[in-house]
Amino acid sequence: MNITLLTFDTIDSTNTEALKHARQGADEGLCIVAREQTAGRGRHGRTWVSNPDAGLYLSIVLRPKIESRYLPLITLMTGVAVHDALAEFGIDADIKWVNDLLVDEKKICGILAETADTTLGTAVVVGIGINITSANFPPEIAGSAASIEEELRKSERRQGLNIRDALAETLTKYLIYFYDILCDEHGPAAIIDEWRKRSTYFFGKQVRVVLENETVTGTTEGLEPNGSLRLRKEDGTLMLVQAGDVVRTRSDSEEPRPGS
Ligand code: BTN
Repeated sequence: MNITLLTFDTIDSTNTEALKHARQGADEGLCIVAREQTAGRGRHGRTWVSNPDAGLYLSIVLRPKIESRYLPLITLMTGVAVHDALAEFGIDADIKWVNDLLVDEKKICGILAETADTTLGTAVVVGIGINITSANFPPEIAGSAASIEEELRKSERRQGLNIRDALAETLTKYLIYFYDILCDEHGPAAIIDEWRKRSTYFFGKQVRVVLENETVTGTTEGLEPNGSLRLRKEDGTLMLVQAGDVVRTRSDSEEPRPGS
């Protein structure tokens, strides 16, 4: 996959723009990047606050030649790519199923994958929002959001002036790398394994899952081959979660240790 970058100072939403290009036949690898979004979108119709130069707002067009049942793995693949891109900046993130990257439990990145039927087949647009600065977080997210600048300050790391460009370059490098793996013969299993290595949510995490009409609690027990979360409910039954918001219910220090 070759990356073609299309950059905007201001745009409504890079995902909306990328979907438009995908419908018009854009090649896989088209990347829309903006300094500001006026209508940034999150999952479940939420808003993604996208102040000027406060984050990386990037969407990429993919035309995956994989079985449609594996399409949800694109979100997991992207989480792995973001994880490794952040690691190059010295940031050790956790991946919370299905699309959040957390640093010390605070969200630093969200991922929104959307599909479009096009004359060239199904296209997937993956939108990635990474907080670069915490300076202008609105009060309602200030307590639960992390940013690259804040993390670099804590570790006293220095970074050149343009984090956004460096991050976009590193991130696209990892997206190409893990997307190639996903599209390989044994790619789906390989991506799940890469996700497992980077997420404390893979197994044994006590969580609450907020679904459309109910909330269930239980303990995570790995992922299905298509990326669904396996949740062992308190009544002992296994539930497969395809969509929902996962919230941790116990802090790590409270998690039972082996042998205790
Ligand atoms: C979420 O956590 O709810 C997903 C947030 C995804 C935000 C990104 S920013 C770039 C791209 N354009 C959008 O409008 N949304 C995604």
